[in-house]
Amino acid sequence: MEKKKTFTLINDQTGESWIFPVAEGTQGPGAIDIRTLFARTGHLTLDPGFTSTASCASAITFIDGEKGILQHRGYDIRDLAEHSTFLEVAYALLYGDLPNAEEKRVFEKDITYHTMVHEQIHTFFRGFRRDAHPMAIMCGVAGALSAFYHDSLDIWDPRQREISAHRLIAKIPTLAAMSLKYMLGQPFVYPRNDLNYAENFLHMCFAVPAETYRPSAALAKAMDKILILHADHEQNASTSTVRLAGSSQANPFACIASGIASLWGPAHGGANQSVLEMLKQIGHKNNIPKFLAKAKDKDDPFRLMGFGHRVYKNYDPRAAVLKGSCDAVLDELGVEDPMLDLARELERIALEDDYFIKRKLFPNVDFYSGIILKAMGFPSEMFTVLFAVARTVGWISQWKEMIEEPNHRIGRPRQVYTGSAFRPVVPLRERSGAKKEGPPIL
Ligand code: CMC
Repeated sequence: MEKKKTFTLINDQTGESWIFPVAEGTQGPGAIDIRTLFARTGHLTLDPGFTSTASCASAITFIDGEKGILQHRGYDIRDLAEHSTFLEVAYALLYGDLPNAEEKRVFEKDITYHTMVHEQIHTFFRGFRRDAHPMAIMCGVAGALSAFYHDSLDIWDPRQREISAHRLIAKIPTLAAMSLKYMLGQPFVYPRNDLNYAENFLHMCFAVPAETYRPSAALAKAMDKILILHADHEQNASTSTVRLAGSSQANPFACIASGIASLWGPAHGGANQSVLEMLKQIGHKNNIPKFLAKAKDKDDPFRLMGFGHRVYKNYDPRAAVLKGSCDAVLDELGVEDPMLDLARELERIALEDDYFIKRKLFPNVDFYSGIILKAMGFPSEMFTVLFAVARTVGWISQWKEMIEEPNHRIGRPRQVYTGSAFRPVVPLRERSGAKKEGPPIL
């Protein structure tokens, strides 16, 4: 029998030692299981950016950052993007395998028949300013779903969990399209059950009552592919946020709202909007060296948006698919966008630059997605919303996996306290003296 791996921790001062088991996955690095560390040693571990911390065991998504591999339930992302639909991928993320024909039919029907939102939500929207960022609207309305769907809030009932998951996958695109319509000052467009998921989404975004609208098959396919590429990405910031919120037994709609909020930041899903703004700012190929110098300057907060990744130290496979799709989509739409040439040139120069080579900084999923979405007619404020539409399935699958884990506990990290030691409260009239500096940064 193969011996189980262990790790030994030795206290240099006392010579005491403790043995910890290693949790092995099916692929990728194993993890030293330190759950008993505090009880046995009286010490915590410190890892503020979670660079060396596995927060859970999960069977949903695998990333090999060194090789640039992304798999969902074992299926390679390039394969999924080429040979399946977004709803098939959603099914696999939720249930473990790609569906057979009958499972696919039933799942598509379930999702399609949940796409309408409660009519009162229309009124809820009207409370927002017209110039509200659609992500601000999404944070609010996604959380508000829990006020409308009381019959699927019992997280301990598997059927209610499933209905909530289906509702979220079905309704978030409707809310996303409504946030676009609200921003544009156009009437909301109701979903249509005769259209597939991507077609229906485009219809809700771009149709107006005055004329008929049917997206081309190529456009719908491109939309579907973008959704597939953003569907899940293991324990990124927003997914970890959803899991942490869910660990307190909060309802799934509230958890997804927390994920949307976390996704919004420019270091995460907000990067797709920032890439386009950056390309606009760069403006011309001649300005690339100036902006690269800014990105390399440690005294300048500017970063090359859409570049770099915590896990990928190789080309992000999602960026590779999107880069390949750019030409086809722009051709199909008859759009010529000088930003595509600018983006390609920026990538070429950055990938030859020592700074980027040394740090293994490659284009990530956000680098090319904005160019395609812009060509499709989406304003840049919508880019992160589209990311949220796709990622909802990843979030809810990860949430479901966590709730169904028999021994799951509330997520409650600890800290290394760096504040004052105990001191008594001095009466106000006796307090004086200069303010002390803040705590040291670890
Ligand atoms: N431009 C310039 N320098 C960079 C960049 C960049 N985009 N990204 C990383 N670096 C440098 C960074 O300054 C550091 O240099 P040094 O070692 O000299 O201090 C080194 O590379 C490592 O960076 P880090 O900040 O420690 O890496 P991280 O893993 O904490 O951050 C990241 C990852 C994605 C937040 C970061 O690469 C970044 O800010 N990229 C731009 C924003 C972006 O495109 N975000 C989308 C991420 S992918 C999709 C998603 O998750 O939503």
